[in-house]
Amino acid sequence: VPIADQPILEEEMTVLSVDATDGVVEHLRKGTTDLAPSPLRVPISNFFDKSHAAVEHKLFRRLPLNVAHTSEISKVGSFITREVLGTQLLIARGEDAKVVAYVNMCRHRGGKVEWQASGNKRMFVCPYHGWSYDRNSGELKNVPYEKDIGPIDRACNSLERVRAEERNGFVWIDFINDRHLPIAGYLGNSIDATLASLALNERIIYLDKSFTLPINWKLVIDGAIDMLHPQFLHPDGVGKLIKTNTVLWKGHGRHGQLFAARQRLAETVRVSGDFDRDWRYFAGSIFVYPNSLINPTPDHVECWTVWPSLDNPAESTTKIRFLVHPDRLNEKTRQRLDLSWEILNKAAGEEDWPMEVSIQENSRSHPDGSYLYGRNEIACQHFHRNLAEDLGWLNKETISSQ
Ligand code: FES
Ligand SMILES: [Fe+2]
Repeated sequence: VPIADQPILEEEMTVLSVDATDGVVEHLRKGTTDLAPSPLRVPISNFFDKSHAAVEHKLFRRLPLNVAHTSEISKVGSFITREVLGTQLLIARGEDAKVVAYVNMCRHRGGKVEWQASGNKRMFVCPYHGWSYDRNSGELKNVPYEKDIGPIDRACNSLERVRAEERNGFVWIDFINDRHLPIAGYLGNSIDATLASLALNERIIYLDKSFTLPINWKLVIDGAIDMLHPQFLHPDGVGKLIKTNTVLWKGHGRHGQLFAARQRLAETVRVSGDFDRDWRYFAGSIFVYPNSLINPTPDHVECWTVWPSLDNPAESTTKIRFLVHPDRLNEKTRQRLDLSWEILNKAAGEEDWPMEVSIQENSRSHPDGSYLYGRNEIACQHFHRNLAEDLGWLNKETISSQ
């Protein structure tokens, strides 16, 4: 067991309320789990249909999205470039230490302005014909051979701004520029406070992985919040660490928080009843709609974002990061972190994702059917019900008792 005998930091414990932990323990004692009011059927076509994916894409572009960790642009002038939903972004920390985001597209003839993945600059210069833009404002500064190009109105040739806000250690962007939606309001008090308690802004990225897979993005999310499969799909790994079908789910608007029992908790509840309200005994996941998962563990916080591929519903890119407190990094914690990754990489790469690829392939051959999300698959249901509401596909036939 990789996560044993570990002193837990105070702030990591605060997420585990008495209420939540007692709920999980009660489920363990009674052999119960949280249940949705009814089963849910999701049309199979939602997982490969191009027009459905196009509507989902539009939805993504209406929502605040978690695109980076604070530590990636830690200093004034630090920047990163990143593709988000097919749009090239340039995200920087300006003079006032505030985060700014631009479309990484030159106002001359559309060249990609900044090509480095990350760096620190005062000015961004397009390598095609040398137009340069101010980091803090995106304003067009210098135009080589300007007198021969013709008059150029600087005021209408700044880099296109994308709304960006830093909160709880993440950079959130919002493609809708003409509204002010503070991230705190989007997250809601409960999720905002839970994320704050993890002090993610004080952490660094220990591990950063990206996987482009032939799987619809929703199947990847499903697999990551599904607590009904560990003992079957991961009998020798995660299934030995996490108790299957023992879940407490707290929905917070479109977001939610999942609590599950580690096997260690199941054993101690059976034998002595002695346990601590910390992440050695509990597993959990904070889901931020539509595509972020933040999973606290004793040593680190595991963050997932899952991105649908533009124009291909049968493909997505999953980014997984381990965020750690830099002052907790020593040889022992590094070993445990590496072991955690080994277990996760095996479970996801060799077990979850191949299963999800098979679902994706089967979906194509059975376009008219539906998939069943049982009452005990409450986290997945929450996710699909909210998507359904936003996309408008949910109707009477899709909710059935079968
Ligand atoms: S396209 Fe950028 S300077 Fe011409
Ligand atoms: Fe799994």
